[in-house]
Amino acid sequence: MQVTQRISGGSATEIADSVRALLERSDLAPGDLLPPVRTLADEIGVNRNTVMAAYRQLAGAGLIITRGRAGTRVVERSPVAQEGFAERGSLRDVGTGNPDPRFIPDPSAALSAMAGRPVLYGEPVIDPGLAAWGGAWMRGDVGDRPHRLTVTSGAVDAVERILAQALTRDDAVALEDPCFLASIHTVRLGGYRAVPVPIDAEGMTVDGLRAALEQGVRAVVCTPRAQNPTGASLSAERAEQLRAVLAEHPYVLIIEDDHFSLLSSEPFHSLVGPEHRRFALVRSVSKFLGPDMCLAIVASDPHTAERLALRLSPGTTWVSHLLQRLVLSLVTDEKARETITAAAAHYTERNAAFAHRLTSVGLSCADTDGLNLWVPLPIPAARVAAGMQERGWLVRTGDEFVLADPATAWHLRLTVHDLSDSDAERLAADLGETVRAASHTDGMG
Ligand SMILES: Cc1ncc(COP(=O)(O)O)c(C=O)c1O
Repeated sequence: MQVTQRISGGSATEIADSVRALLERSDLAPGDLLPPVRTLADEIGVNRNTVMAAYRQLAGAGLIITRGRAGTRVVERSPVAQEGFAERGSLRDVGTGNPDPRFIPDPSAALSAMAGRPVLYGEPVIDPGLAAWGGAWMRGDVGDRPHRLTVTSGAVDAVERILAQALTRDDAVALEDPCFLASIHTVRLGGYRAVPVPIDAEGMTVDGLRAALEQGVRAVVCTPRAQNPTGASLSAERAEQLRAVLAEHPYVLIIEDDHFSLLSSEPFHSLVGPEHRRFALVRSVSKFLGPDMCLAIVASDPHTAERLALRLSPGTTWVSHLLQRLVLSLVTDEKARETITAAAAHYTERNAAFAHRLTSVGLSCADTDGLNLWVPLPIPAARVAAGMQERGWLVRTGDEFVLADPATAWHLRLTVHDLSDSDAERLAADLGETVRAASHTDGMG
């Protein structure tokens, strides 16, 4: 039986329910075409407006998408790559994006000294000590603008909740292109539309952001330092130009994901101008206290903070006070701070040394901030990845991070700060040879 014949109902809700039932039973699959409004209306004997209202309900729920003449289809969920280790295999993984565990402060002493009074429902959700420390930390960069603090379960959680309290399905969000995987994921899963903003060595381009604002984006997610994957950081001049563009859109929500914060070798420059009304500065502790610490501090305008608080309140969900106390005791501990300072120097030094090694094998990459190196290639990275696999390396190709820019696929994102000198030497040599061999085959072909 054709799909049209299996959809039924006399009202918009009944028709939408019958389509949902077909989806649940997999009688309709992602990508399947739904009947045109007129055909379905004639078939089941209802007014066209009723079918249109049913399709609107389904589109609002993110289940179908209407693309003008191309018709109405069941949405397809394209898979998005994830950060982390390869699941199995004997290859040496140099694409993890992880911090070096040797440079994550040991929490054992802090853990045993941390016990305190149990916290009950109805108490303030932020630990007072962490609020004082975090408040001072954030105030340095948020300045005099009215703002409030929120504690979330990490930066990715923060970005997701901040977008959810401000946006509805199909709203447009400006994302850096290439972009951090979890942000691509968040926008897709939330049913928002990603509007790519190209970036260069100084961050988002001015024309790119302007074009995104002209397209009506309601939020901008920006990484002010150590952009993932490129390592780019906003220069003072670029930040000023971007603030000028944003000044005309004071209610566009600016989310600054300053994930590298304490480890960054670059100064922080904000996109948020003095009159901007909706903003959130997000600082995760994941990079300097380890990804498992799952905590971020957010400073946002009072309106955003209030709506965020509704989603993080006693009785619903909040970040455990045990975790908050642990973070506080580490960030205020002298020895842990020394480890964090050493970590920052370690990442800068190891990445610069590897960038230097690359030049000696005929490749180059910019001296950037962050855990990773973003290496441009003369050929598509997928071909290099295949060659590197034969030499025992698992590399991460740029296409995983792409929104629109095809040049992204001609890059590798390498995590090399934890390699020994001899392994780093071998990796650079293998990369140089693989690129040479593949380029040679290109020339022959
Ligand atoms: C840009 C960016 N934001 C956020 C995160 C992760 O933050 P969290 O672990 O706090 O969610 C990462 C981790 O790689 C990142 O690169």
